[in-house]
Amino acid sequence: MEFFEVVKRRRSIRCFQDKKVPEEYVKKILEAAFYSPSSRNRRPWHFIVVDEEELIKKLSKTRKALEFLETAPLAIVVCGDKEISSAWVFDVSIAAEHIQLAATALGLGACWGHILDRRHNEEKSAEEYVRELLGIPDHIRVLCVIGIGYPAEEKPPHSEKEVMWERVHRNKFGHNL
Ligand SMILES: Cc1cc2nc3c(=O)[nH]c(=O)nc-3n(C[C@H](O)[C@H](O)[C@H](O)COP(=O)(O)O)c2cc1C
Repeated sequence: MEFFEVVKRRRSIRCFQDKKVPEEYVKKILEAAFYSPSSRNRRPWHFIVVDEEELIKKLSKTRKALEFLETAPLAIVVCGDKEISSAWVFDVSIAAEHIQLAATALGLGACWGHILDRRHNEEKSAEEYVRELLGIPDHIRVLCVIGIGYPAEEKPPHSEKEVMWERVHRNKFGHNL
């Protein structure tokens, strides 16, 4: 798929078919993640590929906004090593987007489920819940979980109507393009 088609077609897909993602696609998606830019090229990423149904069900219970993971055959937990880079949030966010774009290019659907600075319940942060579930050490921070699979819902691609030209300034703020 051509680049502009991929970015237009990438939508948050939260319902998935009961069909596994081929291993070669999983590898391609991860490969795309590793081509991300990172601050000072520190590359602080860690990715946990979760394809065990029971574990995905438990991930879907992290918080309400992750319930969509229930039907996902694949979840990639996107993490960063805070000891490698203080800019890990930015680096890992970019990788998360590469993952979603790669999934789209392969005809899959994906959605970001947010973890960082969110709560599982009053006692536990969403990050602590995921950390305990997957045995993630303390210096590895958890940004989000990307649910991936063959789409079971259709969404229209993005269109030019969404482009906010009034938010674009030429040379000085407030000067139209
Ligand atoms: C930082 C970030 C956090 C998000 N967190 C969630 C989430 O926890 N659960 C969810 O269902 N969608 C989440 N989304 C997806 C957004 O809701 C979605 O991107 C937005 O509504 C635009 O729709 P689109 O992705 O189809 O263009 C998140 C997206 C981003 C970028």
